[in-house]
Amino acid sequence: MKNILASIVVTIITLSIVIDNAQGKRVLQSFEAFEYTAITCRSHSASITEFGGVGDGKTLNTKAFQSAVDHLSQYASDGGAQLFVPAGKWLTGSFNLTSHFTLFLHKDAILLAAQDINEYPILKALPSYGRGRDAAGGRFASLLFGTNLSDVVITGNNGTIDGQGSFWWQKFHGGKLKYTRPYLIELMFSDTIQISNLTLLDSPSWNIHPVYSSNIIVKGVTIIAPVKSPNTDGINPDSCTNTRIEDCYIISGDDCIAVKSGWDEYGIAFGMPTKHLLIRRLTCISPYSAAIALGSEMSGGIEDVRAEEITAYQTESGVRIKTAVGRGAFVKNIYVRGMSLHTMKWVFWMTGNYKAHADSHYDPHALPEITGINYRDIVAENVSMAGRLEGISGDPFTGICISNATISMAAKHKKAIWMCSDVEGVTSGVDPKPCDLLDGQQSEKKKKTDGGCDFPTDVLDIDNVELKSCSYQMN
Ligand SMILES: *[C@@H]1O[C@H](CO)[C@@H](O)[C@H](O)[C@H]1NC(C)=O
Ligand SMILES: *[C@@H]1O[C@H](CO)[C@@H](O)[C@H](O)[C@H]1NC(C)=O
Ligand SMILES: *[C@@H]1O[C@H](CO)[C@@H](O)[C@H](O)[C@H]1NC(C)=O
Ligand SMILES: *[C@@H]1O[C@H](CO)[C@@H](O)[C@H](O)[C@H]1NC(C)=O
Ligand SMILES: *[C@@H]1O[C@H](CO)[C@@H](O)[C@H](O)[C@H]1NC(C)=O
Ligand SMILES: *[C@@H]1O[C@H](CO)[C@@H](O)[C@H](O)[C@H]1NC(C)=O
Repeated sequence: MKNILASIVVTIITLSIVIDNAQGKRVLQSFEAFEYTAITCRSHSASITEFGGVGDGKTLNTKAFQSAVDHLSQYASDGGAQLFVPAGKWLTGSFNLTSHFTLFLHKDAILLAAQDINEYPILKALPSYGRGRDAAGGRFASLLFGTNLSDVVITGNNGTIDGQGSFWWQKFHGGKLKYTRPYLIELMFSDTIQISNLTLLDSPSWNIHPVYSSNIIVKGVTIIAPVKSPNTDGINPDSCTNTRIEDCYIISGDDCIAVKSGWDEYGIAFGMPTKHLLIRRLTCISPYSAAIALGSEMSGGIEDVRAEEITAYQTESGVRIKTAVGRGAFVKNIYVRGMSLHTMKWVFWMTGNYKAHADSHYDPHALPEITGINYRDIVAENVSMAGRLEGISGDPFTGICISNATISMAAKHKKAIWMCSDVEGVTSGVDPKPCDLLDGQQSEKKKKTDGGCDFPTDVLDIDNVELKSCSYQMN
């Protein structure tokens, strides 16, 4: 099954066919034939050019995209529809997607995000956050937005979505934003989503944000943003169930993957965890952030995350857990195996003192429960500090397990190789020797680390989803 999943193969062949037209004159017509793999294939297909789209990089296509989607939405209950975006530069503002719908980008298609705040409608703050992250008010709709949808595919033959983010980064740094910056792709309250085989460049802020959604596959996506660009997180599953992220390559100015579930009292009240998340074959470069972060907004809880085959270069930390007093909820049953890390500040990082709060009304008694955190089979080199593990006083992080980890320190490493406080756990086969707080009880140690730290053997539902091969011919 792995083989089937690994083989999203897209081919584009341009055929030139000589046909007789109605007048009996011979004309040369060009067809584009292409195939890709998707959760569902569509019965209807149209090109953005049929809706007045112009791919010259100058004409604004927001209305063309929106009318294409609105028109194609009529096929939702008749096999669904696909919108084809040919080679070209398609300048557009935010538009909304629909259900049973595929957006397909040709390999030389570039969606260029308009650098005009009026092209992004204002949406209310997310209920689990209570406010925007850049500003207290609402937020600009993402470039591709959808809410309450089902069965949505955004894919291509490695076509590009260019957020042209410098415009937004300047406004952010200048403190000139009344609303939170747009993301490139956001789907809210949606089910059955595929985002694959695309390149995302220079997002204004986060790149891919599925929120309050389920059954999500993100595969074969390349995300690139300057390593100093503000908050350009790669993929942020937020209060989502059953998500599979695989074969992604991310260079960004913030966490490559940030797993979230709402902020302080708003997230606690909303109460929607992120759970059953698979992350595989991730390559990450992020000098100021983590390959995978859990939090800091985790107030709906984070549970059952399984990450494997993670490669990072020049990344601040491998897996980072960030939380604070006031967050409440939990981060539990986290499993990581197989990390290859090169040039890191901290291989393992946990902090219970991540201060950012939505507002001053957070509950100081809402303590997060961090437990059951498992790391195994790790090789790291050129590391400044092996681990910095700081729980919360009176609320220790427990059940930490690290096994089979070989960490080569940098020539100029920190004097303290491990720094641990308010944490409890067990280790085996960890070099250099971990801090005493991870020494565990002898019996517990024996039980827990025989054969290494846990990694579940059951299969998650999202791993059973197979992609079908779809083929089309466009005029
Ligand atoms: C997209 O949907 C949102 C929420 O329903 C709405 O506020 C927004 O105006 C829509 N955008 C466009 C371009 O119609
Ligand atoms: C979308 O779904 C949510 C959760 O079920 C619901 O509260 C909201 O009213 C729905 N919004 C729309 C526009 O249907
Ligand atoms: C997709 O395009 C990006 C940017 O040009 C490139 O780095 C990446 O290797 C390409 N991926 C594939 C699978 O072709
Ligand atoms: C994406 O498309 C390229 C170009 O056809 C193909 O080589 C590659 O295998 C695809 N990648 C994924 C992850 O599907
Ligand atoms: C230890 O980890 C390395 C690197 O991931 C792996 O190759 C090796 O098989 C692991 N050893 C055991 C005993 O699991
Ligand atoms: C090791 O890390 C330092 C930064 O801590 C970096 O300057 C240096 O180039 C790295 N060396 C190698 C061999 O990657």
